[in-house]
Amino acid sequence: SKHLLGIKDLNTQDIELILETANNFKDVINRPIKKVPSLRDITIANIFFENSTRTKLSFELAQKRLSADVVNFAASSSSVSKGETLIDTVNNILSMKVDMVVMRHPYPGAGVFLSKHINAQIVNAGDGAHEHPTQALLDAFSIKEKLGEVAGKKVVIVGDVLHSRVALSNILCLQKLGAEVMVCGPTTLIPKYIHTLGVKVEHNLMKALNWCDVANMLRIQLERQDIKYFPSLREYSMMYGLNKQILDSLDKKIIVMHPGPINRGVEITSDVADSQQSIILDQVENGVAVRMAVLYLLASQKG
Ligand code: CP
Repeated sequence: SKHLLGIKDLNTQDIELILETANNFKDVINRPIKKVPSLRDITIANIFFENSTRTKLSFELAQKRLSADVVNFAASSSSVSKGETLIDTVNNILSMKVDMVVMRHPYPGAGVFLSKHINAQIVNAGDGAHEHPTQALLDAFSIKEKLGEVAGKKVVIVGDVLHSRVALSNILCLQKLGAEVMVCGPTTLIPKYIHTLGVKVEHNLMKALNWCDVANMLRIQLERQDIKYFPSLREYSMMYGLNKQILDSLDKKIIVMHPGPINRGVEITSDVADSQQSIILDQVENGVAVRMAVLYLLASQKG
């Protein structure tokens, strides 16, 4: 496809090709000379209408490692604050001869909307609580790197599934790669449509952790919460927080993941986040290679 809007649009073969390509790029960026000329003639705009640390920096690094020209746009310091629309904003950027747009936006479907109105390749870097495809790809890459295979593995996604774009993209990606997926959290944070996705639902954290090979601990998205429906953070961390005592009580050594940013002491304690079983910083490292793969493969689809 010309764009990467969601994991929904990819098939198993597409995902495997991205992971394989990312594996090659991981070798490249571990060499003393990290840069390749693959995207020398491509200009990319990273437009972020929502804050980001990992996604923004790793897209930019991926683009630079591929020798693309890069411009960065943060909505908060732009003319969006004067009332300029999304389409006008992007068309103005594109008129400066930009080939590809990487966009993060608070509204679900913003990337799809843009793809219908502008003539550039679009990569979704997170659209509201909808999809975050490159996060799911780097998570799958990291599981494969650690466990050798994604197929047949049991992955539980714990916490604020309702407000999470990481959850939906992960569910779709892991299922397409043949993993078994469970979600675990309080009823108030599990979306009603979950039953249409073919995942297991478990409200008891211990049962979920005893079942899984991998636990992906989601961040509580306070910025998207209607606070009155929410269990208090104290209640949440007592019932769904992962601490070292729980981790050590399990029969097998599970892998612990977190997309970041972490609310330390809420969904996960520091001694777990920083433990040998955590691959949180591997996920971030792999984000660069995976995003290189996505950009490289999309550039070959241009036109
Ligand atoms: N995981 C993730 O998307 O982090 P940022 O919001 O910092 O990009």
